[in-house]
Amino acid sequence: MADTFKALVVTETDGKAAVAFKDLSLNDLPPGDVVVRVAYSGLNYKDGLVLNGNKGKVVRKFPMVPGIDLAGTVEESSSPLYRKGDVVAATGWGLSETEWGGYTQKARLKADWLVPLPPGIDVKRAMAIGTAGFTAMLAVMALEDARVKPGKLPVLVTGAAGGVGSVAVALLAKLGYSVTAATGRPDQQDYLRGLGASAFVDRAQLATAGRPLDKELYAGAVDTVGSQILATVLTQVARGGAVSTCGNAAGIDLPTSVLPFILRGVALLGIDSVFCPAERRREAWRRLAKDLPLDKLDAMTEVVPFGQLLDRSAQILKGHVRGRTVVDVNA
Ligand SMILES: NC(=O)c1ccc[n+]([C@@H]2O[C@H](COP(=O)([O-])OP(=O)(O)OC[C@H]3O[C@@H](n4cnc5c(N)ncnc54)[C@H](OP(=O)(O)O)[C@@H]3O)[C@@H](O)[C@H]2O)c1
Repeated sequence: MADTFKALVVTETDGKAAVAFKDLSLNDLPPGDVVVRVAYSGLNYKDGLVLNGNKGKVVRKFPMVPGIDLAGTVEESSSPLYRKGDVVAATGWGLSETEWGGYTQKARLKADWLVPLPPGIDVKRAMAIGTAGFTAMLAVMALEDARVKPGKLPVLVTGAAGGVGSVAVALLAKLGYSVTAATGRPDQQDYLRGLGASAFVDRAQLATAGRPLDKELYAGAVDTVGSQILATVLTQVARGGAVSTCGNAAGIDLPTSVLPFILRGVALLGIDSVFCPAERRREAWRRLAKDLPLDKLDAMTEVVPFGQLLDRSAQILKGHVRGRTVVDVNA
């Protein structure tokens, strides 16, 4: 039927989550002031958790349309901020947690959750960036704010072949930093070199505890994995350096000591992309349009049809997905 559209819906029965495609109509959508015709969504680690049994209890309200990202064209707006035809994206703000998200051909949202796409970034590239790329930009901006500058010592990126990691490598290299990539996939070194990495560390080397203070190897780091790897990285950051921490692909624990902080003045900078304030959000998108090389973005991106999303989502939890996956919700 012409007035229905396809969406993925997560339901819960007796504590068990189930995911299925459904036909919805505008009447099924939650309240909001803007209706967006969605062109693309993306696949992030958090989406993998939701689509594979709601691991980590990301979804807190059922039924839920999952997908933490979306980009498309405004179809209806009762907000003065947007007009029909505007091209927009949304990331975070509780999408796929407490608010319906982007795995749908139409969405109704609050205008405050949307960002207008900056010139040069179309809907497909906006989702190639997605939450992962936006988070990478926030992580790099946090290092800049902490005065980590391009210089003799490199910046380390952990989980480098993943979504956040790949964008962080490309951004840092473009900004003139020398980038060392920590990866568990040595077969991805050529790919990472193509994005701008100039040296590599096997992630296994970082996964066991060393001395409380090690050799000062890095000016700073973008960490996407947490746990022992982040703890080891902290011991290897030079005096006055900083580490942006955004992820937990290796675990939520952090078995560190206070020594890197009190003897070297190392700063640990938390990154939360979900509730990042609107002004910082717009600044990050402006920076992405300026500083992320589009050829590198395209090289790290694969587009999959809506029907392949579930298969792909299982792969991301196994660490088998490289770079960014864009989901074409109309294919
Ligand atoms: N704070 C925020 O606002 C925010 C926003 C976005 C993402 N995140 C988090 O950031 C992390 C990365 O997200 P993503 O979308 O980039 O995920 P992703 O594409 O799956 O990348 C994660 C990468 O981590 C590495 N990895 C996977 N399993 C690991 C393990 N057991 N031990 C050590 N490393 C492992 C892999 O890189 P290699 O193969 O190169 O080793 C993998 O590609 C996730 O934890 C996600 O939830 C947080």
